Amino acid sequence: MHPSRIDRAACRQADATDPLAHVRDEFVLPDGVTYLDGNSLGPPPRDAERRLREMATVEWGQGLVRSWNDAGWFDKPLALGDRVAPLIGADPGEVVVCDSTSVNLFKVVLAALALRPGRTAVVAESGSFPTDLYVTEGAAGLLGGYEHRLIAEGGPALADVLDDDVAVVLLSQVDYRTGRLLDMAALTERAHRHGVLVVWDLCHSAGALPVAVNDAGVDFAVGCTYKYLNGGPGAPAFLFAAARHQDAARNPVPGWHGHADPFAFTTAYRPAAGVARFRTGTPPMLSYAPLEASLDLWQRVDLAAVRDKSLRLTDLFIQLVDQECAGLGLEVASPRDAAQRGSQVAVRHEHGYAVMRALIERGVIGDFRAPDLMRFGFTPLYLRYADVWDAVQVLREVLRAELWRDERYAVRATVT
Ligand SMILES: Cc1ncc(COP(=O)(O)O)c(C=O)c1O
Repeated sequence: MHPSRIDRAACRQADATDPLAHVRDEFVLPDGVTYLDGNSLGPPPRDAERRLREMATVEWGQGLVRSWNDAGWFDKPLALGDRVAPLIGADPGEVVVCDSTSVNLFKVVLAALALRPGRTAVVAESGSFPTDLYVTEGAAGLLGGYEHRLIAEGGPALADVLDDDVAVVLLSQVDYRTGRLLDMAALTERAHRHGVLVVWDLCHSAGALPVAVNDAGVDFAVGCTYKYLNGGPGAPAFLFAAARHQDAARNPVPGWHGHADPFAFTTAYRPAAGVARFRTGTPPMLSYAPLEASLDLWQRVDLAAVRDKSLRLTDLFIQLVDQECAGLGLEVASPRDAAQRGSQVAVRHEHGYAVMRALIERGVIGDFRAPDLMRFGFTPLYLRYADVWDAVQVLREVLRAELWRDERYAVRATVT
């Protein structure tokens, strides 16, 4: 859809021929809301509530402790890992779903550092999600003797800081602020030339676009399941460890669920074979139920179609911001080249926080990242092209009439 001037009818026409249009019915979405924050918290799949109720009333209520065996609870982190695997280009047995992204990052960064003894530097991106910086700095500090090298957009670049002293590089495939997409294969190969292990943060990639960790030769990866994968608030995260590293990798948070024989209750720790060694303790089973429902849905979705629609939606939004909001103080902060973009568009405005609050009050839900970025996530499973049109009309009105100046929009909530 690239006519020189777009109108709502053109958007409706695009919806009429959208091969993913029917998937919207599989989600629960409130009336009167255009949800552009699925890159922060995905909405519930229709089947999530049924699955939660079933787990709570039948498996827990009736099965009680027997369900650790009978309902497959004990193996759930690995079973769901195998279902996340195709979404990120991993093989069965390479992914486990457990703990949070931050905790999993800590585990794989420390495991990777231990696989490169004698090296003395760890590399992270200064603009990455803060948890990534805290983890690399924290892990390096814990071991002692590591230099924490930072790369940034505008330099220094990865090539500038890579040498044979570097043990591990941590990169985000899609930038949480701007949605900029990195070339995973090229950067992994570049690091491998120096014998460096690469950990990828896939929080804004999984479910947003096809990811190919094995084709790219990735060593370790982590990501959350509550954004594009719609697993529910705080749903357990995933951890990928390439098969070739699994025998040598050690979980720095060893616990009984990652033991080779947990019910032998032995004194000595012996890691389980494979990715199971990255488990630690008892998983929060009820948090797996909505994710199971969502992964059922994801199994029926073609990721190439998701990427195609994602780029159409983000292109449309950028085009409409240019067309409808010219001269209203907005600046698109995301790459205009679709090939370099994830599934979100960030737009700068001097009063972005107040503008976003005004939008949310009018049913257009995005979010805000300091100092001035409004983030809009475009999730192809339930968004319509006409929703993008409608959202931009609200944005235009909020800016044109300066509705954001209402003083109540200046008050910062805890979560922005
Ligand atoms: C890119 C990225 N990495 C890491 C995290 C941290 O995830 P968690 O809070 O689930 O540990 C987030 C959370 O939004 C994120 O966006």
